[in-house]
Amino acid sequence: MQSITRTEGIIFVLIIIYSFIPSFGGLLRVLELAGGPAIIPENPRALLDPTPIVLHILSSFLFCILGAMQFMPSIRRRHPTAHRTIGRIVVIAGCISAATGLWMTHNYTFPQELQGSLLYWVRILLGSLMIGLIVWAVVAVRSHNVMRHSAMMLRAYAIGQGASTQVFFGITWMIIAGSEASGLLREIMMVSAWVLNLMISEILIRQLFVRASQAIKSTTAKSMISYKR
Ligand code: HEM
Repeated sequence: MQSITRTEGIIFVLIIIYSFIPSFGGLLRVLELAGGPAIIPENPRALLDPTPIVLHILSSFLFCILGAMQFMPSIRRRHPTAHRTIGRIVVIAGCISAATGLWMTHNYTFPQELQGSLLYWVRILLGSLMIGLIVWAVVAVRSHNVMRHSAMMLRAYAIGQGASTQVFFGITWMIIAGSEASGLLREIMMVSAWVLNLMISEILIRQLFVRASQAIKSTTAKSMISYKR
């Protein structure tokens, strides 16, 4: 028995590839902090205070990778228990990812070129929003409002996946300009990545609502026809 469709499989693989650098690359930082080799560029803040960044990387990894599975309709329909179990892990991981992100934003000492006030405030706003959306999604599903649950989780996932879009923008910029973006330009790029992700999530949510209302209309029409007969 096939659990997922071909399209779902392709989308899942694309999300994993897209999340590869921040999700799997982050694990190299964890390895380094655990005493392994230093493969990626040094982060003095991580060396000084490793606990929040290790928690952040591990929880973000779970949120991005397991989160991608949650959007597959086939798993939701055919394996609801698996969806619920993975969902609990994703909810906890998402909250830890955002909370540690907030903690580092406020408590790590960043040089001005890595975090100015624009990035500071956007991180505070979106980290808090991510927790709020996840909590809202849990409340919605407990009141059996599946559409609201899906919409809130999709928005939270879009914020989390901002890290991947930021890497994508950063690499694209390096290819075009031949050097790494820094200062205000880097901050604008990072914020734009979040804006783009949130815009895409709004388009997907709209499609979800349109499809759901079409399904309701066709079910109502069918039941009216069979009632008249
Ligand atoms: C859920 C998806 C996310 C992933 C995959 C992710 C990934 C990462 C990784 C790999 C690092 C370590 C960078 C390094 O080792 O130098 C990191 C650091 C950090 N992340 Fe995230 N992150 C995510 C979400 C967030 C969110 C939502 C926020 C905002 C509240 C945030 C704020 C931070 C901050 C402030 C740091 C420290 C940066 C530094 O020290 O230079 N992250 N993140």
